[in-house]
Amino acid sequence: MRRRLDLRVWLWFALVCLSAPWAHSQTLAPRLALCGACHGADGNSQIKDFPSLAGQPRVFLENQLVLIREGMRDIPAMKGTLQGVSDAEITALAKHYAALPVKASTAPADATLFERGRRLSSEMRCGICHLSDYQGREQMPRLAGQREDYLLHSMRQFRTNQAVGRDTQMAAALYGVSDDDLRAMAHYLARVSP
Ligand code: HEC
Ligand code: HEC
Repeated sequence: MRRRLDLRVWLWFALVCLSAPWAHSQTLAPRLALCGACHGADGNSQIKDFPSLAGQPRVFLENQLVLIREGMRDIPAMKGTLQGVSDAEITALAKHYAALPVKASTAPADATLFERGRRLSSEMRCGICHLSDYQGREQMPRLAGQREDYLLHSMRQFRTNQAVGRDTQMAAALYGVSDDDLRAMAHYLARVSP
C-alpha cells in the first residue's frame, strides 16, 4: 500500500515537472503577442515614442512592470494590460526581454549633433548611473540603442517633473538642461553601439 502511494506521488511529481515549462510558454505567448504589438515582436519598437524593451536590465524591467501594474507609473496606453498578471509572469516577461538583442537606429547621424551629444553625456556624467557605455544595470535603464524619439520624450518628461511614478534622480540630473541639449543627447545615445 505504502509503496503504491509513493509511486503515485512520484508520478504526479514527474508530471508537474514535465508540464511546467509547457504551461509557462503557453501562458506567456499570448501576452508577448500583445506586448509585441506596441514594443515590437523582437522587443525593438517600430512606433514613435514607444520604447524598445530588448536588452534592458532585467531588474529595471521587473521594477517598471510592477510600478505600471500597480498604477504608480501611469501609462494610459498600457491601462489594463497588466491587470491580474502575477509576479512570476512579470519575472518571466522581464527575463524574456532582457535576453533579446538590441537593434540600434540605422538612421544616418548628424555628425555635429552626435558629437555634441557625446560631449554633453560625458560632461553631465550620465554614465555614473547608466554605465560608461550606457548599457544600464540593475534599476538603471539601458540608453544605448533606445529609440531617439522615446529618449527625448522621457527626458522632457523628467525635466518638467511630469514623469509620474518615476525616479526623481532623473529630474535632478536634467534640471535646467535646454531642449537643444536634450535633442543632442537623444541623437547620440540612440546611436551608441549596443
Ligand atoms: C497599446 C500599446 C502598449 C501595449 C500593448 C504595451 N505597452 Fe508597454 N508601453 C507603452 C508605452 C506608450 C510606453 C511608454 C510610456 C511613456 O513613458 O510615455 C510603455 C512602457 C513600457 C515599459 C517601460 C519601458 C521604459 O523604458 O521605461 C515597459 C517595461 C513596458 N511598457 C512593458 C510592456 C509589456 C511587458 C507589455 C505586455 C504585457 C506591454 N508593455 C504592453 C505601450 C504599450
Ligand atoms: C544618479 C543616477 C542617474 C544619473 C546621474 C542619470 N540617470 Fe538617467 N535614470 C536613472 C534611473 C534610476 C532611471 C530610471 C528611472 C525610473 O524609471 O524610475 C533613469 C532613467 C533615464 C531615462 C529613461 C529611459 C527609459 O527607458 O525609460 C533616460 C532617457 C535617462 N535616464 C537619461 C539620462 C541622461 C541623459 C543622463 C545624464 C544627463 C542621466 N540619465 C543621468 C538614474 C540616473
